[in-house]
Amino acid sequence: MCVKKMSSEKIILDEEDIPKQWYCILSDLPKPLPPPLDPAQKAPGPGIAPLIFAKEVLGQEFSKDRWINIPEEVRDVYRLWRPTPMFRAVRLEKALKTPAKIYYKYEGVSPSGSHKPNTAVAQAYYNLKEGKERLTTETGAGQWGSALAFGCQAFDLKSTVFMVRVSYEQKPYRRVMMETWGADVYPSPSTQTEAGRKILSEDPESSGSLGIAISEAAEDALTNDDANYAIGSVFNHVLTHQSVIGLEAQKQFEAVDDYPDVIYGCIGGGSSFSGLFWPFYYDKVSKKAPKDVRFVATEATACPSVTRGEYRYDHGDTARLTPLFKMHTLGHQFIPPPIHAGGLRYHGMAPTLSLLTAEDQVETRAYNQLEVFDAAILFAKAEGIVPAPEPSHAIKGAIDEALKCKETGEEKTILFLLCGHGYFDMQAYDDYLSGKLLPYEYPEEKVQQAMNQLRELYPWVDKLPF
Ligand SMILES: Cc1ncc(COP(=O)(O)O)c(C=O)c1O
Repeated sequence: MCVKKMSSEKIILDEEDIPKQWYCILSDLPKPLPPPLDPAQKAPGPGIAPLIFAKEVLGQEFSKDRWINIPEEVRDVYRLWRPTPMFRAVRLEKALKTPAKIYYKYEGVSPSGSHKPNTAVAQAYYNLKEGKERLTTETGAGQWGSALAFGCQAFDLKSTVFMVRVSYEQKPYRRVMMETWGADVYPSPSTQTEAGRKILSEDPESSGSLGIAISEAAEDALTNDDANYAIGSVFNHVLTHQSVIGLEAQKQFEAVDDYPDVIYGCIGGGSSFSGLFWPFYYDKVSKKAPKDVRFVATEATACPSVTRGEYRYDHGDTARLTPLFKMHTLGHQFIPPPIHAGGLRYHGMAPTLSLLTAEDQVETRAYNQLEVFDAAILFAKAEGIVPAPEPSHAIKGAIDEALKCKETGEEKTILFLLCGHGYFDMQAYDDYLSGKLLPYEYPEEKVQQAMNQLRELYPWVDKLPF
């Protein structure tokens, strides 16, 4: 390992420390992952996945290999921003007067400003190798869409992005960023697809959802030979690609001779948090971890998939094109309240993370957007970086943990993932600063309605052994 530069606050690795392999958790889970189900067959099956994903990507989805080589072409693009820095947040520690040590790994230095290019670049590369000319996808806040536009641009592929309408209207600069990298961007629901037209005929004012946008992007890939589909979270291969985050963080802790007691991340579909904690989880299950490290996932009270949703089979999209996945869900018809953390407004959760929370390997917390922005502002004032609303949930969790240490006198080492900057989120900050933000709680009746609908739609699922 070569630590290029190290001060008490900033831990930077050298290019040669960019991981050469990704870590895949599937063979280390406490139980086998329940398989996807094809609702037409009422049995395990990948549904439309083989028709819209690159073969290599699909192979990684079900990989039994713990380590997967990262192609040199992908590492070459990673070199533009990786390894990413890890900081000791000494100013935040001082502001909180805590005896805890707080570290954060910062993914906002990537070209599009978040962790998302770690998988976008890899997916673009595999699709190019398999002869595709275009990738389709959905995006919520615009973070994933801009990452995919960048990834496609790096390998001369075209990209088509269906952007949830409320974000398309709230965040025009994310659209411009995608278009700068050559993407065609449509507000979703759109008139481009059958799924979009159906939703619009029922509700011409629909503000959209990630579930609807996924249906549109999947349909586009399914009905056009030049294109495949790429997804920004939830799927095993995406989380695997994100493991570069945690693998680097492990080296950075080695460099300062420390190790986390607890790791916080935010969860929309679970990819950034999993990318950070998986390698530490592997340390734990292989008995290499020097401490009994805890993992804590944080989400929005407006979209409480894991804290309030049920762990049961559901579709990944609104039009029911995808197979059924066993995951925590609020129901595939979920239309989220218009909170600013657009990346956390998805009804489902990564099946691996759902399994790990169901097995008590991962703790969960939900916060409302007012308390989240309180934490974001405290962090920005202390550390300088203006965080995206999504990772501000992790900041809130880390701050609460550090304040608990203040009461107990414990000198814990806390790590959280700052998975993106918030420089495209000034409207959210403006709304917070002018007192316009509301502390949304998703209503319990809506969760129950959605679960009843799932039980009625797929009564046979509960009889299966998974
Ligand atoms: C900045 C940012 N953080 C977090 C997320 C949530 O996704 P995931 O849980 O897959 O990291 C998103 C999703 O769009 C995002 O844009």
